[in-house]
Amino acid sequence: MSKKYNIAVIPGDGIGPEITTAAIEVLEAATSKRDIEIFTKELKAGGAAIDAYGIPLPQETIFAAKDSDAVLLGAVGGPKWDNVEPENRPEKALLGLRSGLGLYANLRPVVVFDGLEAASPLKDPGKIDFVIVRELTGGIYFGKNGMYQSGDRLSDGTVKGKIAFDTESYSEGEINRILKIAFDLAMKRRKKLTLVDKANVLISSRMWRTLASQMSFDYPEVEFDTLYVDNCAMQLISRPASFDVIVTSNLFGDILSDEAGQIVGSIGMLPSASVGTPGTPGLFEPIHGSAPDIAGQNKANPMGSILSAAMMMRTMFGEEEVAADIENAVRKTLASGLRTSDIKFVGVDDNTTLAGTKEIAKAVIENL
Ligand code: IPM
Ligand code: MG
Repeated sequence: MSKKYNIAVIPGDGIGPEITTAAIEVLEAATSKRDIEIFTKELKAGGAAIDAYGIPLPQETIFAAKDSDAVLLGAVGGPKWDNVEPENRPEKALLGLRSGLGLYANLRPVVVFDGLEAASPLKDPGKIDFVIVRELTGGIYFGKNGMYQSGDRLSDGTVKGKIAFDTESYSEGEINRILKIAFDLAMKRRKKLTLVDKANVLISSRMWRTLASQMSFDYPEVEFDTLYVDNCAMQLISRPASFDVIVTSNLFGDILSDEAGQIVGSIGMLPSASVGTPGTPGLFEPIHGSAPDIAGQNKANPMGSILSAAMMMRTMFGEEEVAADIENAVRKTLASGLRTSDIKFVGVDDNTTLAGTKEIAKAVIENL
């Protein structure tokens, strides 16, 4: 009897529908070769849900996502919804899904694929292969926030006016559970873990540091070190190949993963997995946004989404073979010279062929 997985697909906005279509086609082809059946159910979230129902994350979407075995998401947001009230922004859908599904760990692997070395803006990047483990349901993204009117003045007499605030707050429990994921992951890799924080300024960061150094005693084989986030931003450029696992807070992880996207040449190549309690559905999405400027033009790089589908197979279902099949097919497709415009550079990739989203998906399927 073949195995069956129910996958909730949330295409979202901008290039989201194109890249998730590509990823699902690849996933269907890859799983059918391994006697696995996937059933997909399309759900609305983000701007698409605002247009249809007036809210970014309808109950139906969250219920159906919870009811699935895993969720594949494209991207949400776009200029069309820039003026909706803050609590109804498309991004709220993503945050609501992450917290609603309890997905506290976001794994963002960063690798340079063979043939894409030239896409990196770094002169001699070396063999880049690290993972950012980003805390995903806490910190300033979910801390107490608000806005109020103040009658006070600044010391130079300037009227304060309105005051807006967001809070970086973390509990020991929240920090320890993500640290454990990071240490365990380091054990399966090159056994190096870097905690990135701002412990020279933030109390919350100092707690991360204390807990991480405590936990490091349970992992004597893991070479554990710490970096301030500003310094890390610099070290990622100067010695990217030396990193193995980076663990950090929600906000720092968000920022550093975009930097990592550029280091490997294109953010369009990077997948991610968001996971929580074992047995609950994880959410798999590329780290890039909805790229409204190229939406609907068959220009988007679907590889971040395709590789996210591979991560789903591995992380969620333990289907290592399917995941490896997909990743190998992506490598072959790149080796054959096909490039979406984000990874094709004049003067460097002149012997490669410009391809659209659909052509890449087709080639990956043929290369399975
Ligand atoms: C990401 C994105 C989101 C985030 C946005 C769209 C809310 O930038 O997944 O990195 O900040 O987490
Ligand atoms: Mg981001």
